[in-house]
Amino acid sequence: MKAARIHSFGGSEKVRVETVPLPRMRKNTALVRVRAAAVNPVDWAIREKIYNPKGADKLPLTLGQDFAGVIEAIAPGSRTSFRKGDSVFGETWGSFAEYAVVPLKDLVRKPRSLSFVVSASIPMPALTAWQMVIDTAKASPRKTFLIHGASGGVGSFAAQFAKSKGAHVIATASRPSFRYLERIGVDVIVDYKKERFEKKVAGVDVVIDPIGGATQRRSWGVLKKGGMLINLIGEIDRAAARKAGVRAVEFGMRYDTRDLEEIARLVERKVVRPHISRILPLGQVRRALDLNEKGRSHGKIVLDLT
Ligand SMILES: NC(=O)c1ccc[n+]([C@@H]2O[C@H](COP(=O)([O-])OP(=O)(O)OC[C@H]3O[C@@H](n4cnc5c(N)ncnc54)[C@H](OP(=O)(O)O)[C@@H]3O)[C@@H](O)[C@H]2O)c1
Repeated sequence: MKAARIHSFGGSEKVRVETVPLPRMRKNTALVRVRAAAVNPVDWAIREKIYNPKGADKLPLTLGQDFAGVIEAIAPGSRTSFRKGDSVFGETWGSFAEYAVVPLKDLVRKPRSLSFVVSASIPMPALTAWQMVIDTAKASPRKTFLIHGASGGVGSFAAQFAKSKGAHVIATASRPSFRYLERIGVDVIVDYKKERFEKKVAGVDVVIDPIGGATQRRSWGVLKKGGMLINLIGEIDRAAARKAGVRAVEFGMRYDTRDLEEIARLVERKVVRPHISRILPLGQVRRALDLNEKGRSHGKIVLDLT
């Protein structure tokens, strides 16, 4: 099978699409023929050895996590209601490949009406957005959200979940993303390349911060007393939060198949729509990772492995 692998950590020149043996199943896993796999920032962070949790720390390493595909085989002796031929999606290690081994407990049935490409674009960004906006920030019509990076994978789901609960949503994004954000009904858009959001925004209940640095520094002042800033990249200035009288949350997504099933139903009902900007073949995986790393994806990039 073909797989996008690295033999040492580093830049995109390290990524090779190679022919390798099929990965081996252990008990309670399935072999999935991957039909689509989505690119997330964590994929190049792993490649560069910036962030390597267990499962993504040993070489050679097949990149990729989010996927959608069809079950090719189930490990003998496994107890499951899944069958060979079922269409599934979710997260696993090594999804930038024609086949991946997935623990059965991590599989979610792909809704019939959603394509493989759409389904692959959902898991990591949508679960992250759901657990932040719904579980942690408790979006409601009385709340105003400032969502930085609202056109990105996480931000675009966050903006739609907040809107679906009736919240007022202010988004920061750059020009190429404006049309998309208008379409999903964001209330106010601020061009982070040209405007200072803190001059236009005040009295916010929740800031979603996938950026950190100066964006976070300038965000404390736009929050109401008692408000909340949720950071996604492990970068929180607790002293600044105390001074501003707000809650600071360092957020980490927890993979949850029930949340994913609920989100898939919302995508099916068109309550939320994934923001897919490009579909590329596996052979262009380096380009896909580079576009995302350089901030030029303006939405999700999905690899088509059919
Ligand atoms: N903690 C967790 O569990 C968790 C889970 C998922 C992701 N993350 C992290 O969250 C971050 C975002 O992930 P993602 O998948 O949404 O990334 P993404 O799809 O690459 O989106 C990044 C977005 O950031 C925007 N942006 C860049 N600089 C900005 C600035 N100064 N102000 C406002 N927006 C800016 C870009 O907007 P334009 O295209 O409009 O220019 C782009 O859409 C990444 O660092 C990722 O690793 C963490």
